[in-house]
Amino acid sequence: MQLRPLIRRAGLMALLTALSVLPAVAADSLPAGVTLTVTAGNASDVGVAENLWLYVPAGQPVTPFVAPGPFTARWQGLITAELRADFAFHAEYSGTLKLSINDAAVIDAAGTGDAPVNGKTVRLNKGTNGIVAEYTPPASGDAFLRVFWSNKETPYTPIPFAALSHSESPELSKSLLIHRGRDLFLEHRCSKCHSVPAGIPELTMDAPAFTGIGGRRNYDWLARWIQDPETMRHGTPMPKVFTGADAGEKSEAVAAYLASLKGAAPAAANAGNAGEGKALYEKLHCAACHNPPDATEQDPKKIGQKQVAAKFIPGTLPAFLQKPAEHYAWIRMPNFKLSAEEAANLAAYLDANADKPAARVAPADDAVLARGRTLVQNSGCLNCHVLDAQNQFAARPLSGLPNDHWTMGCLADAPIEGSKAPRYALSAEDRQALRALAATDRRSLTRHTAVDFLARQSERLNCRECHGKVEGFPGFELLPGKLKPEWAARFIGGTETWKPRTWLEARMPGFPAFAGELATGLSMEAGLPPKSPDDPAPADTAELAKAGQKVAGANGGFSCISCHGIADFAATQVFEAPGLNLAHSYERIQKPYFRRWLRAPTSVDPSTKMPVYFDEEGKSPLPDILGGDGPKTIGAVWEYLRLAEKMQKPE
Ligand code: HEC
Ligand code: HEC
Ligand code: HEC
Ligand code: HEC
Ligand code: HEC
Repeated sequence: MQLRPLIRRAGLMALLTALSVLPAVAADSLPAGVTLTVTAGNASDVGVAENLWLYVPAGQPVTPFVAPGPFTARWQGLITAELRADFAFHAEYSGTLKLSINDAAVIDAAGTGDAPVNGKTVRLNKGTNGIVAEYTPPASGDAFLRVFWSNKETPYTPIPFAALSHSESPELSKSLLIHRGRDLFLEHRCSKCHSVPAGIPELTMDAPAFTGIGGRRNYDWLARWIQDPETMRHGTPMPKVFTGADAGEKSEAVAAYLASLKGAAPAAANAGNAGEGKALYEKLHCAACHNPPDATEQDPKKIGQKQVAAKFIPGTLPAFLQKPAEHYAWIRMPNFKLSAEEAANLAAYLDANADKPAARVAPADDAVLARGRTLVQNSGCLNCHVLDAQNQFAARPLSGLPNDHWTMGCLADAPIEGSKAPRYALSAEDRQALRALAATDRRSLTRHTAVDFLARQSERLNCRECHGKVEGFPGFELLPGKLKPEWAARFIGGTETWKPRTWLEARMPGFPAFAGELATGLSMEAGLPPKSPDDPAPADTAELAKAGQKVAGANGGFSCISCHGIADFAATQVFEAPGLNLAHSYERIQKPYFRRWLRAPTSVDPSTKMPVYFDEEGKSPLPDILGGDGPKTIGAVWEYLRLAEKMQKPE
């Protein structure tokens, strides 16, 4: 389940259509996904869901717009079949579910979550069919629901997002506008001045620290940034603070003061090689988020790189590239774990193509510095930025801003002479969205769900500019439910040292501040718990692992080792389609995903080169191993994977 205002998976749809492996594609004309309406008490919320999946730990809200506690959820929309054919649906859930296709119930029962509830087989018409699911959680405990479908050729798989669609409605548009208002409120750090009760990770988002900033940033750049951040970087969350006729003079005084805050001198960096820097820039896909400095066309949505010489004090750029979060924990620029040499090469490439900075020397006059310091203290800068100086600025808490005032102050359509309110670069639609949020009970600003965090931050952080766009990178739509949240948190945070796909020159960059919630969101989005459930080894694990080892071998098995390395043993035929070293799979992969993957890899990822081993009924072609029982054979491989680094190479 994901509440995302805009559906942006046209690429995926095209891919699925082209491959036509999957049983269905969506009605082209309608937006993808189904609507999800949740109701708790007398509040309700509607959004667009990517799937009929949900996980709500006891005591947590299902979305930020309703209170924690009992709720009902209703998914509604269309499901598209490419040809008229029979489909079976089944679902794993706690609570009760009524699932209807074309107004006829296929599941209408209570579920315990231990075993899937099998629905009646239904015939789907070619083209669109109506789908409605109504879910009520159990009286106590976690609420979860995972719906799957299958036809004759494919085993149970998640319904592909692209096969679901919905029609727009005024109610949905209004709700999405409110969602957008909440996103804008969080992103622009409104609560740093208009305080709200704690509860959401984003309320703790910081801004670059001022401590020692004069040792890192040039005076002229600081003055121009402070005067008008939006013209320097489209979409920045920092507002313009000085708006009157004296804005230029004030910005310069503040810049002079900040420039005087010198920290320790930067360590001398080695001169880099610009040519190698350019090659690395391409290899690491920096252009996912940036306009390369030597590009002729500039995408306004991406961050330019021509200003680096004006911004960074000479010699400090490599240090920034190596540790972007050093002075700004919630920076969106990720950490690529660059070596000193790599950082120097990248910096040389960027510097060589940067605009020449203006040679303006910072005024060092005591009166100017004192004025700058006072302005920093009493203009609101320190509501967002950290400095060891007293903050003398305060604004009313959010609860003190009545609805009918949301056309004033920060939300005035045009700047107001003499107002102390900062000026954000908000569009008319943005202001409308914030006003829509203001008109609610505003409690959504005290509630958090990891799934909502994932939807918002994966957009802001451009995850899909790499995942799904660059060949060979795992597609973003494959990630929900794939990885154990503990491993994913380490990996997204950049602390995992093992590199999964040794054959890729690119690396996954680290997003340390965001990682934990993103990883949890990826699990819960697929209806799985925020922490990996216990997975006790069965009594006969040793025997099963032996059988699993045989399955992996070339001798009487499937020869998994031709593509996959196992602990210290290298794959035997990697040129085919390299796979990951299986010694890490147990700590990485969620068990349900593993089962689906091994059962029919191409129904999980139509583009994978991993072969399908089991027949349509799921039977194994190896009668000597566990009597050819497919699920048991897959379970045996799992027990083998459990041995991790202790896995022995098959014969
Ligand atoms: C740097 C601190 C600061 C930040 C950040 C800030 N505001 Fe304000 N806001 C103010 C001040 C100060 C005023 C009062 C202006 C005045 O008195 O003219 C104000 C006024 C307002 C008002 C009008 C209130 C009234 O009763 O007149 C609204 C509405 C408002 N802000 C909303 C927002 C929203 C929404 C955001 C985020 C997009 C935001 N503010 C961010 C400081 C801030
Ligand atoms: C996922 C998106 C993303 C990727 C990938 C990315 N960056 Fe960034 N980068 C950002 C963002 C966002 C900022 C602005 C950070 C801030 O100051 O808040 C930034 C800032 C920078 C800056 C400072 C520029 C300025 O005006 O502040 C440099 C230099 C930079 N990145 C270089 C790189 C290089 C080199 C790579 C590839 C190794 C790279 N970036 C990859 C998102 C990204
Ligand atoms: C509502 C919060 C907020 C307020 C108020 C605010 N800033 Fe910022 N500022 C930010 C954020 C967030 C960034 C990072 C920009 C980005 O990520 O695009 C930033 C960036 C900066 C930077 C660039 C730092 C760097 O190293 O890249 C400077 C300098 C700066 N702000 C100065 C100021 C000054 C001076 C004031 C007061 C006049 C001020 N800011 C008020 C939020 C704020
Ligand atoms: C600059 C490109 C880039 C960006 C931006 C990016 N990733 Fe990645 N990501 C990669 C690459 C490359 C890999 C594969 C690394 C490997 O296996 O060695 C990867 C792997 C992953 C994996 C592991 C998947 C698996 O099957 O092993 C997860 C999870 C992930 N990324 C999540 C994210 C999230 C969440 C974001 C946004 C916050 C994001 N990525 C942004 C390049 C990127
Ligand atoms: C022809 C090559 C090939 C063979 C043979 C093969 N695989 Fe794979 N396997 C792959 C590829 C390719 C992937 C996906 C790699 C990626 O995500 O980038 C994969 C992924 C996996 C994964 C997910 C690993 C992870 O940590 O993400 C598992 C588990 C796996 N295979 C198990 C097996 C088993 C067990 C066998 C034998 C029954 C097998 N594979 C045979 C190519 C192969």
